[in-house]
Amino acid sequence: MRRGTRPPFRCRRRRGDRGRGAAAARPDEVERTPKPGAVPAGGIVILAVPYASAVPVVTRYGDALAGKVIVDIANPFNATADGLTTPDGTSAAQEVAKAAPASAHVVKAFNTIFGHVLAQGRSMDALIAGDDAAAKASVSAFIESLGLRPLDAGGLEMARWLEGAGLLLMGLGRYGVGNYNFALGVSPG
Ligand SMILES: NC(=O)c1ccc[n+]([C@@H]2O[C@H](COP(=O)([O-])OP(=O)(O)OC[C@H]3O[C@@H](n4cnc5c(N)ncnc54)[C@H](OP(=O)(O)O)[C@@H]3O)[C@@H](O)[C@H]2O)c1
Repeated sequence: MRRGTRPPFRCRRRRGDRGRGAAAARPDEVERTPKPGAVPAGGIVILAVPYASAVPVVTRYGDALAGKVIVDIANPFNATADGLTTPDGTSAAQEVAKAAPASAHVVKAFNTIFGHVLAQGRSMDALIAGDDAAAKASVSAFIESLGLRPLDAGGLEMARWLEGAGLLLMGLGRYGVGNYNFALGVSPG
């Protein structure tokens, strides 16, 4: 299959909880956090795990995430990637926020960009949502350091719609665009 025509989405079973999945990041520092319970370095922690693991991972790290900005990138897709597994009125990001320490701030980001498109290093829009202005400013600076344009969609309640935009990406990949080698963007009027 040609690159860009294969859905960037797979369903698989976990082989066990191996204590990875939280990566700390600053514009000048990206670090994997290999040991369960280790305190992630840096102020921003990118939660780069499937949604099914996101809340358990945040719960396990617990107070090690106190005061951190947690970036939730998950798309809580159903098995056919045409619906969300989260109930109406919530989102992956809001569920992560409930599990995180009260002093942590969750920002939804990166879920509207295909990973392989992000890796191409092109300039594109990164939609974000979150309740804390300082946390969003910090994530926006990180996004800009990657050469992307951060676009704030509002409070964390908007995360559900960003996750819906993740579904939109999948639908466009299947139908309107016909491949998965594109990015969603906003054109100023
Ligand atoms: N791929 C995309 O284009 C894309 C786009 C937007 C958003 N996202 C979101 O990004 C996240 C990651 O997607 P992906 O495509 O990179 O998935 P992936 O290739 O399946 O990688 C997920 C990673 O999470 C680890 N992991 C899963 N459960 C864990 C647990 N309980 N503890 C520790 N580590 C755990 C996996 O470890 P093992 O390899 O050891 O299993 C793997 O390294 C998902 O939430 C997805 O919705 C992906």
